[in-house]
Amino acid sequence: MRTISIAIDGPSGAGKSTLAKLLAQKLGYLYVDTGAIYRTVALFAMERGNDPGDEAAVAGLLPQMEIKMAYGTDGLQHMLLNGRDVTEDIRRHAVSKGASQVSALPAVRAFLLEMQRELARRHNVVMDGRDIGTVVLPQADLKIFLTAQAEDRARRRYRELLERGQDADYETVLRDVIQRDEADTSRAISPLRQAEDAVLVDTTGNTLEESLQRLLRLTEERVRHGEE
Ligand code: DC
Repeated sequence: MRTISIAIDGPSGAGKSTLAKLLAQKLGYLYVDTGAIYRTVALFAMERGNDPGDEAAVAGLLPQMEIKMAYGTDGLQHMLLNGRDVTEDIRRHAVSKGASQVSALPAVRAFLLEMQRELARRHNVVMDGRDIGTVVLPQADLKIFLTAQAEDRARRRYRELLERGQDADYETVLRDVIQRDEADTSRAISPLRQAEDAVLVDTTGNTLEESLQRLLRLTEERVRHGEE
C-alpha cells in the first residue's frame, strides 16, 4: 500500500509540533516529531559527558544508542533511549542547545535518515522537522513550511517552559531562538530552508485553531483530493 506523507518544516516555536500533532490526530496519521530524535541523541551524549558538538565522540556513541518511539494511550510520542522513557528529559533547555549541535553533524544526520524514511514507508505520517521536505521525504504528498516572527515564537516557547514549571526569562529565550535559527539555517548539512514545492504558512498573530484550519484546508486540496 502506498503511504501518505505530510512534511512540516520550519524554525522552532512556529507551532510546528502542536499543529502537526493535531493534524495527525484529525487525519488518523502517525505523528513523527523528528526534533525529539535529535534531542535524544544530544541527551545521550551529554549524559555520557561528551560535547554534543564533537563529531568523533558523538559518532562513536551512535552504535550504543537504541532509540525507539512509542505511542502511549495519551496519543503522545514517547522517546525511549535504551529502554528508558526520556520524553520529559529531552525538553530541558540545555538539551535544546545540544540538539542543535548534534543536528549539524553529518554522522548523526546519516544515522537518523533511514529511521525517519522507514517510518514514512510503513505509516501515513505527519512528520515535522527542518529538512523533511528537502531531504528526508522529497516525495512527500504535501509540504508545509511553517514560520512566524521570532518574537512570536519566543513568546510561545517561553510560555511552554513556564507551563512545564521550568525557570525561564523571555529575553534569554528570544536570544536563544535567534541563535538557534541562525545555527539551523547556516549549517553546511541539511540547513533549514523551504523546499521549492512547499507551501509557506506564517502563523504570526494567528490562533492555533486558525492555523489548524489552514493546514486542514491544504490537506483537503492537495492530499485528500488526490486520494479519490
Ligand atoms: O524542533 P526541535 O526544537 O525539537 O529540534 C531540536 C533541534 O534539532 C533543532 O536545533 C533543529 C534540529 N533538527 C534538525 O536539524 N532536523 C530535523 N529534522 C529536526 C530537528
